[in-house]
Amino acid sequence: MTAGRTVVFGGTGFLGRAIVRAMAARGDAVRVAARRPDAADVPPGVELQRADIQDDDAVAAAVADADTVVNAVSLYVEGGGLDFDGIHVEGATRLARLAHRAGVERFIHVSGIGVTGQSPSRYVRARARGEMGVNDAFPGATILHPSVLFGPHDSFLATLDDVTRLPIVPLFGHGETRLQPVHVEDVAAAVAGAAHTAEATGRVFELGGGEVLRYREIVRAVLSHRRRWRPLLPVPWSAWRGIAHVGKILSNPPLTIDQVLLMQADNIVSAEMATFADLGIEPRGLRASLSACLPGQGTSDL
Ligand SMILES: NC(=O)c1ccc[n+]([C@@H]2O[C@H](COP(=O)([O-])OP(=O)(O)OC[C@H]3O[C@@H](n4cnc5c(N)ncnc54)[C@H](OP(=O)(O)O)[C@@H]3O)[C@@H](O)[C@H]2O)c1
Repeated sequence: MTAGRTVVFGGTGFLGRAIVRAMAARGDAVRVAARRPDAADVPPGVELQRADIQDDDAVAAAVADADTVVNAVSLYVEGGGLDFDGIHVEGATRLARLAHRAGVERFIHVSGIGVTGQSPSRYVRARARGEMGVNDAFPGATILHPSVLFGPHDSFLATLDDVTRLPIVPLFGHGETRLQPVHVEDVAAAVAGAAHTAEATGRVFELGGGEVLRYREIVRAVLSHRRRWRPLLPVPWSAWRGIAHVGKILSNPPLTIDQVLLMQADNIVSAEMATFADLGIEPRGLRASLSACLPGQGTSDL
């Protein structure tokens, strides 16, 4: 497949910025559709256009001359007039519908691993309805299900770095949940690869990193990397749900009920799905990447 014009919605976000770099490196002309283009920082040569995924006219204008459209828009916490249905269902479906109407060739929708309509999480159920909307509106769309993302300047490892400074490190339950953290640049490479691979059309890819680790193993890896020595404290799920309920009164809660529910289920690639291997990518493991993602000396702060 040849390079063309790629429009990235969510191109100012953590994953979106990596996607923009990966697409530009493959020779695509890239446009970032952003709500506040004046505040956006994009690599040289990348175009910026104002568009909110909730606005029909702006979305139609942003995708009018695109070959590929990527949806990496995210909303983790509802509030300020934004809710999961508006962004993840209606917004995603609007973008897919208007891209299809404009004659766009490829639509790549970023969702998440473990997305199912049966989830106890409202967030995950909205993501599942969003995927159905995208598939109906854009037959042949490619859907990507990454596991939790890490990389330089992420929020996953940065939060663990903070938490492991506490005198006692609390665990979600007994820390048994299995995760397959995936490097943001590997997912971006998968987006760029899928955009240039005809076989990716109409498929769902589950994107997990090179290692499956239990939550407590990840905590231990960060502690060891930072040369910190801390006891780990199992905290019951009911206590985390309580903390999340109390946090609802805050405009920017540290933890939501959906995040607690997500942490209760394993977040790993299932055997039946297409993966990185189908795109010829070997993903990095978390532990081998810690020095690059959490640079600086271990603190040895006993
Ligand atoms: N981070 C993870 O660990 C993880 C794991 C699995 C899957 N994912 C998925 O990966 C995708 C990207 O996640 P992320 O962590 O990179 O998100 P992020 O850093 O929070 O970025 C979100 C992006 O969405 C844009 N956005 C929000 N509302 C918008 C709207 N109404 N119209 C247009 N753009 C809007 C933001 O643009 P502004 O500049 O305008 O705010 C920003 O560019 C999401 O689908 C997410 O579910 C992420």
